[in-house]
Amino acid sequence: MEQYISLAQIDEAVQAVQKRISIKPKVGIILGSGLNGLADSVQNAVFIPYSDLPHFPVSTVHGHIGRFVIGQLEGVDVLVMQGRIHYYEGYTMGQVTLPVRVMNRMGIGSMIVTNAAGGVHPDFQPGDVMLITDQLNLMGMSGLNPLMGPNLDEIGPRFPDMSQPYDRAYCDLARKVAKAEKIKLQEGIYAGLSGPSFESPADLRFLRLAGADAVGMSTVPEVIIARHGNMRVLGFSGVSNKANLDGSTITTHEEVIEAGKVITPKMEKIIRGVLREI
Ligand code: HPA
Repeated sequence: MEQYISLAQIDEAVQAVQKRISIKPKVGIILGSGLNGLADSVQNAVFIPYSDLPHFPVSTVHGHIGRFVIGQLEGVDVLVMQGRIHYYEGYTMGQVTLPVRVMNRMGIGSMIVTNAAGGVHPDFQPGDVMLITDQLNLMGMSGLNPLMGPNLDEIGPRFPDMSQPYDRAYCDLARKVAKAEKIKLQEGIYAGLSGPSFESPADLRFLRLAGADAVGMSTVPEVIIARHGNMRVLGFSGVSNKANLDGSTITTHEEVIEAGKVITPKMEKIIRGVLREI
């Protein structure tokens, strides 16, 4: 397996997608664990399983379907990732973020990213939705930055700026929509770890001290790749469980999927509202 994905490989995948569709999506949407529902309401949907695309990894996690759903939501041409790839599945960072490279090369200028996360902020409750205002790149700090390897100069610079990973105007729009829809929208910093083990109580106290409000196993590499290609990003975490800083309760994947059922309708309303105005 090649460690790094080349521009030629990205463009092969782009061509394979474009052969199957006649529209030009404007917005990419990544749906996280247990949050797949929104893809079911895409209109005039074309489904492209990742297994049909060259160089694409295949999602192995329960609760992740693993395909592009391309069509319209609120009249906007969208490319939805119904299921994402995680680093802990054993793929390279290049493979994990290949779908975002593909969006970028297809001319998609905006990405809405969602995930399931543990609530590290003490006020967060399972079922809450958090607007991601910034991110802690803990994977990158331990040597797992998705931009390692030869830089793709055609896409972006060797040392891309990260001063605004999440677009401020989009954040304002999300706040406005949530208010209009009367949905409580938490806000905070998402810390990305590689997983797949959940955090120990000491991990969680460390994360809280470092300023994290939510913790999960995705998103951060995708956002770095999106920003490398100058895409505007909006992000939401669905709080599926309270991070347990004293070790008194356990965390399971089942509760993550269960909480998704409460979170999905709220996220869907916010995303639809944003799409109407984007
Ligand atoms: N930790 C990490 N990732 C998660 C969690 C968590 O508690 N909940 C959902 N994804």
